[in-house]
Amino acid sequence: MPKTEPEKGLQKRPVDTGFEGIALYPGYLDAPAQKALVAEVLAGFETAPPYRPHMPRTGKPWSIHQTNFGELGWVSRPGGYGYSALNEAVNAPWPAIPAALLAIWDEIAACPAPPECCLVNLYDAPGSRMGLHRDEDEEALDAPVVSISLGDTCTFRVGGFARSDKSKSFRLASGDVLVIGGPSRLRYHGVDRVTPGSSQLVPGGGRINLTLRRVTKPAQPAQ
Ligand code: SIN
Ligand code: FE2
Repeated sequence: MPKTEPEKGLQKRPVDTGFEGIALYPGYLDAPAQKALVAEVLAGFETAPPYRPHMPRTGKPWSIHQTNFGELGWVSRPGGYGYSALNEAVNAPWPAIPAALLAIWDEIAACPAPPECCLVNLYDAPGSRMGLHRDEDEEALDAPVVSISLGDTCTFRVGGFARSDKSKSFRLASGDVLVIGGPSRLRYHGVDRVTPGSSQLVPGGGRINLTLRRVTKPAQPAQ
């Protein structure tokens, strides 16, 4: 019998999450691609070391570390959340978004304008989590957020448009890619918990999440 090749692109088919506009691509990145991406992310940390953000008003530290790649970085400052071209911690621009991430955006974001920000969330301590929130600091709300998971599996929660709305959770494993867009672009979401030791990908353990965002509205072509 001839050896049958695995169907090409099979892992690039989304599964239904039950939310219109939220597409989950399980195993979008194979093991070598995940490994290469982690190496690029760790290299980026040399110029943009992860830091612990603090809540704007209360000054309470988050349980995760963050940094950014791209022209604009998402930051939490005493005055509020927003985007900054400058990494104030090192007084320098953020490193460029790795080409492998731009390729994922091109493949599945259905947005002709490139992402301007890759927010890096590092769930690197026991109990690291992210409370329910909306990604609402972008002007380009017609562009989706594309989220790439690397390392330990997490329980990801998606709710409605008010914090108290009914929510449901599903797992995000290493190599999974999630697109949050369309009518779900402003849904509440968060990370309930990360399962320690569920992956050996990230040196020292933990989970890395990369979210690609278009921040500014692309310039309209001249008529
Ligand atoms: C986020 O909502 O910004 C991050 C979500 C995740 O870590 O999967
Ligand atoms: Fe988010």
